[in-house]
Amino acid sequence: MPGLVVVGTQWGDEGKGKIVDILASSADLVTRFQGGANAGHTVVIDSEEFILHLIPTGILHPRKLCVLGNGVVIDPKVLLSEVDELAERGISVDGRLLISEAAHLTMPYHKLIDEAKEVKRESRRLGTTHRGIGPTYTDKMGRVGIRAVDLLYPEVLEAKLEANLEEKNFLLENYYEYEKADYHRILEDYRSYADRMKTWITDTSRVVNEFLSRGKRVLFEGAQGALLDVDFGTYPFVTSSNTTAGGACTGLGVGPCKIDGVLGVTKAYTTRVGTGPFPTEFSEELDEKMRVRGKEYGATTRRPRRCGWFDAVLVRRSVRVSGVEKVAVTKLDVLDEMERLQICTGYEYKGAVMSEFPYQTAILDDCRPVYETLEGWAESVRDVRSFDDLPVKARAYLDRVGELVGVEIAAVSVGPRRDQIVLRDSDLW
Ligand code: IMP
Repeated sequence: MPGLVVVGTQWGDEGKGKIVDILASSADLVTRFQGGANAGHTVVIDSEEFILHLIPTGILHPRKLCVLGNGVVIDPKVLLSEVDELAERGISVDGRLLISEAAHLTMPYHKLIDEAKEVKRESRRLGTTHRGIGPTYTDKMGRVGIRAVDLLYPEVLEAKLEANLEEKNFLLENYYEYEKADYHRILEDYRSYADRMKTWITDTSRVVNEFLSRGKRVLFEGAQGALLDVDFGTYPFVTSSNTTAGGACTGLGVGPCKIDGVLGVTKAYTTRVGTGPFPTEFSEELDEKMRVRGKEYGATTRRPRRCGWFDAVLVRRSVRVSGVEKVAVTKLDVLDEMERLQICTGYEYKGAVMSEFPYQTAILDDCRPVYETLEGWAESVRDVRSFDDLPVKARAYLDRVGELVGVEIAAVSVGPRRDQIVLRDSDLW
């Protein structure tokens, strides 16, 4: 199976970083196809923690080639500081990082607009990461974006920047009453970024397709989760890209027939950061307990994540829209001490039970989750390495999760380290 897409099936933070890291060891090429510096993939190697925002997790494996596809929005400042941080820790990206010429760049004014919009929204805030993601994708779709290839053409960069700033600064100053962006400062900064990035910028669609046609293993690393997808998520409380598997095709320039499989990553319970509906959200007390036990703080913003019971209704939606064939369940160990566990199987709304995730976000605010209750296993699973050795009640929980979401559970993560994984097959590809 040369081409494998890995996607989150909830609201992001499912633990994709660890799963992708494990898969990357047998990949020839590791790619990212959407999102930007809003992502935060945490990987623990020999008790050393790495948090990657933009660079694919594959970079942590010596000699692996990594690609940032055209669907990714790149903040050069964040990218280069990530490169420097990796270098300080002995990991070089030299010859191992490629950036699509068509990838759009996040500019300082995108971050200012992101912040200014959130301030203006007051009580209707989306709770964005303030990384300029929405405004960068807005400019992409509005056909005024600045792309990586423009870094190679100084006169194009200058002209686009000048034209964009005229409008952005007018908006920032007059509509948002916010700070303006400085043309000369940006130009100087982006010229210096161009000097460092120019050798990485290329036609990455060609590279990825070449790898696939030679039968090489290509991993497509999704960021965020399906419920943050701009089309299939809890709109408008979503990010601005297609986080579902289809995004891998458009975000890298790869035809759908070239992709052989889709692996979903699902946390054993549910979390979300930012605002927006969350039907299975815990009471305050349980929320705090899980947050502490699961270390549920945003990898990018350090914001506390909201926690709740496993919601099979929303994962079923994610499985369908991404064509997920297998799932990896993460953080099972976080549930070790729970006396009883609840799984949401439907939503009761106006006297009827809905088994499909609704598109009308307002329904999610007013519905009541319908739960099935299972007994907890009350023992640690952290040292378990095979399915058969999992406590019977843990297996019952996983079986029920698999049954309700309609796919096989191929792997279970039982702790943060690389080795804390239980695989159904010896190989996830
Ligand atoms: P944005 O992507 O910064 O515009 O934020 C939009 C929404 O997506 C907010 O609720 C964020 O908290 C959420 N979000 C963005 N990236 C991530 C992520 O990597 N994990 C979890 N939530 C995210």
